[in-house]
Amino acid sequence: MEQELRTLEREASEGLEQISTANELEEFRIHYLGRKGQFSGIMEQLKAVPKEDKPRLGQLANTVKKQIEKAFSVKKEQIAAGATTSAAIGSIDLTLPGRRPEQGRLHPVTQIMTEVCSIFESMGFSVAEGPDVEQDRYNFEALNIPAHHPARDMHDTFYVSDSILLRTHTSPMQARIMEQQEPPLRVIAPGKVYRCDSDITHTPMFHQVEGFLVDTNVSFADLKGVLSVFTQKIFDADLPLRFRPSFFPFTEPSAEVDIACVICNGKGCRVCKKTGWLEILGAGMIDPEVFKQVGYDPEKYSGFAFGLGIERIAMLKYGIDDIRLYYENDLRFLSQF
Ligand code: FA5
Repeated sequence: MEQELRTLEREASEGLEQISTANELEEFRIHYLGRKGQFSGIMEQLKAVPKEDKPRLGQLANTVKKQIEKAFSVKKEQIAAGATTSAAIGSIDLTLPGRRPEQGRLHPVTQIMTEVCSIFESMGFSVAEGPDVEQDRYNFEALNIPAHHPARDMHDTFYVSDSILLRTHTSPMQARIMEQQEPPLRVIAPGKVYRCDSDITHTPMFHQVEGFLVDTNVSFADLKGVLSVFTQKIFDADLPLRFRPSFFPFTEPSAEVDIACVICNGKGCRVCKKTGWLEILGAGMIDPEVFKQVGYDPEKYSGFAFGLGIERIAMLKYGIDDIRLYYENDLRFLSQF
């Protein structure tokens, strides 16, 4: 009897291992644990064993039955879990087209910035970058704008301390580079600048590209030539260019350069403030005072400098009538470029 119980336990365990479907499991249950199954047969036989062996064999039969029942439940759970997984697999339609992840793109201002830099690089300018958080000395003093100079009024910005501020233009790079290098120089310096400004053609943070060239015998005609080639290339057209006399403490003579407004074709609109022109840059011949500040001989060297507004160029190139659109983070606007 004991031997039979051990054999039954082994056979049931081996049988369960082979089972992989719910139907097979049900057959197993009927065969071993059902009312007329193997186990009931053994219980019948137990009735006939000698009285003194009954407690021991009865206990063994119970243990074997519990083990078979436990192994049966474990298998049942495994089969149910497997069925759920295969049902899920079955519900995936492998023929459906995939979902494309949204593809990012460069911001229009970054695109124009890259294009502007490569045009100047093609004319032999090298690219230099400087800090957004700048010293008063470079932003103003070295550019011939001493404390209390009225020109500072147009360059109000965020001050970190009395002598550290968010740069208001990229012109500080003129002094930074001239301090480190001897002429001849042909450099552009792109970057972010900050001012207390906000309307349809002004933002508090915007981008400029500074350009300067220092050598012997540089003239205003060289400046005009470089800027004309640049505007032709960036707008891919021969747009009228206007040099307006202006004042910057670090250039003499100075000019503001306007381009015919492409929004209204020069007729006059709210973007060009009814003038037909839009200012894109400030420029001029580098003031001898700046050369003195950085230790260049103003008798020997001459040069020109310009600082152009990237957002303005992007507005003209794409026909955008409000500069603030660039910074509202509206993907419906940005994804058009
Ligand atoms: C300057 O910033 C001078 N540093 C430029 C310069 C460089 C002159 C070298 C001479 C020699 P201005 O303040 O005019 O100049 O600014 C230059 C250009 O930046 C403007 O023509 C305009 O295109 C752009 N700009 C100025 N303020 C803003 C603003 N708040 N938002 C967007 N673009 C601006």
